[in-house]
Amino acid sequence: MTTGPIELEDLPGVGPTTAEKLREAGFLTVESVATASPSDLAETAEIGESTAKKMIKAARELADLGGFRTGKDVFEQRKEIRKLKTLVPELDALLGGGLETQAITEMYGEFGSGKSQIVHQLSVNVQLDEDSGGLNGSAIYIDTENTFRPERIEQMVNGLGIEDADPAEFLKNIHVARAHTSDHQMLMVESARELAAELRDSDKPVRLFIIDSLTAHFRAEYAGRGTLATRQQKLNRHMHDLFKLVDENNAVALVTNQVMSNPAVFFGDPTKPIGGNIVGHTATFRIYLRKSKGGKRIARLVDSPNLPEGEATFMVEEAGLKSC
Ligand SMILES: Nc1ncnc2c1ncn2[C@@H]1O[C@H](COP(=O)(O)OP(=O)(O)OP(=O)(O)O)[C@@H](O)[C@H]1O
Ligand SMILES: [Mg+2]
Repeated sequence: MTTGPIELEDLPGVGPTTAEKLREAGFLTVESVATASPSDLAETAEIGESTAKKMIKAARELADLGGFRTGKDVFEQRKEIRKLKTLVPELDALLGGGLETQAITEMYGEFGSGKSQIVHQLSVNVQLDEDSGGLNGSAIYIDTENTFRPERIEQMVNGLGIEDADPAEFLKNIHVARAHTSDHQMLMVESARELAAELRDSDKPVRLFIIDSLTAHFRAEYAGRGTLATRQQKLNRHMHDLFKLVDENNAVALVTNQVMSNPAVFFGDPTKPIGGNIVGHTATFRIYLRKSKGGKRIARLVDSPNLPEGEATFMVEEAGLKSC
């Protein structure tokens, strides 16, 4: 059974005007109100603190905040984890078999390092059946930089080497939406949640959520020193919403983050670029991508909770991601 999502307007004392103010400030869901601080909320919605406290209390009662679960329940849910393959054996080995569902994977690297190519490839692969490395599902693709290219999908489908694979069928199962601002991007996660609920009982439930790029709008809009805390707060909330989404749908989230390699840094860890990392440690898996000689790309797994650090190389070809 799917019930509609609980809206901000369902909270006592929240009319359209207050709801609008809350949304503008990035409080898009009842859950986000439930976990807000009273002073933060009071300022945002221009209400008194005691009203804010009441609102938070009501939101906590309405929202599904998870609460405690037994280890057995956690274990049962983790048993459902599936792996989505890149179909480059070296890369899949690095990832312990592929990208995990119920987790967020962040790919970061400089321009042209292959982030968008990988998300294109995975929105194709996710549609394959499990024996072929896919999850027999569809993809939702939030495109913030207008870099989704259907032609590229077509080339990659043809590049699979599956005789009767029809690119038009694959394109039908990739749901693309542009996001024009960071707030719009956060709202799109809500729309994604609704679409995923609609498709849950179809023959292609959503198993992959992509945000390419996760960080570009945030970086552009919150550039000044005084705005960094707000940026971080919003990004954290955004990641939290994404986690919920992948949990509910047993899906993979794949997000990209452009960072600049700093040529002035000769020492230290090049995978921790100065000022480049704004996602922090919220993502479950982090992959650092860099260009190498002869069109090769190097992927390095960073900070994984259960996999050894390591590197794998691959090529981006017309037919998609391939082994070197
Ligand atoms: N049809 C193709 N055939 C071969 N290689 C391609 C093809 N299309 C793209 N590429 C390769 O992919 C590169 C672009 O990579 P991609 O767009 O994934 O970078 P990115 O990491 O997303 O960069 P940005 O941070 O700017 O978004 C190109 O420079 C090219 O080397
Ligand atoms: Mg890109």
